[in-house]
Amino acid sequence: MLISFEGLDGCGKSTQAHRLAQRLREQGYRVELFREPGATPLSESIRRLLLESATEITPLAELLLFNAARAQLVETALRPALESGAIVLCDRFDDSTTAYQGYGRGLPLEVVATCNRIATGGLKPAVTFFLDVPVELALRRSRGSDRLEQAGREFFERVRSGYWEIARQEPERVFCIDATRSPEEVHAHIWRTLQPRLPPLP
Ligand code: TYD
Repeated sequence: MLISFEGLDGCGKSTQAHRLAQRLREQGYRVELFREPGATPLSESIRRLLLESATEITPLAELLLFNAARAQLVETALRPALESGAIVLCDRFDDSTTAYQGYGRGLPLEVVATCNRIATGGLKPAVTFFLDVPVELALRRSRGSDRLEQAGREFFERVRSGYWEIARQEPERVFCIDATRSPEEVHAHIWRTLQPRLPPLP
């Protein structure tokens, strides 16, 4: 079972992914946690290029680089973990690209969807938690130092509305969670939502 966490930078999804991993392990599940972009040596190198580079990267190049990192992650780490029966948690997955490169940068959504599909080989999360916070709060919470975080307020407003649109289109998969609440309340909401959808313990 693949579970992804999505939202603006600073929404708290990394904290929630770690918390959920711990909770699931306590219940007896085998859990693997990955982050995007990253988690494999190639993907970590691409991550540095994307987030720390001072050179200009066009939106199309950005789309392809995120998806190159994803292709490597899916084939070498995600699929093997899923095939081994683990619950796989991913801190960001293909919805990030739809929200940031599609809605945020303005690339045609069908181009983004095609590119995502090629990179994932059609792998989709069973459940996605979209941790929603207002842009103001996200900007205040995130360090604001990497290349994407410098994109500006309007960019993040488009990304946030993009996530709403994704959640509206796939309500069975994407759960919108109010992440302005305390980490304990957010975790409780995530756990309540996930519990009935979990596979039986091995
Ligand atoms: P990261 O440090 O993981 O951000 P955070 O911890 O705030 O989630 O950096 C990932 C950045 O890359 C973040 O700004 C979102 C962006 N991103 C995209 O634009 N497209 C993508 O497909 C992915 C996976 C991330």
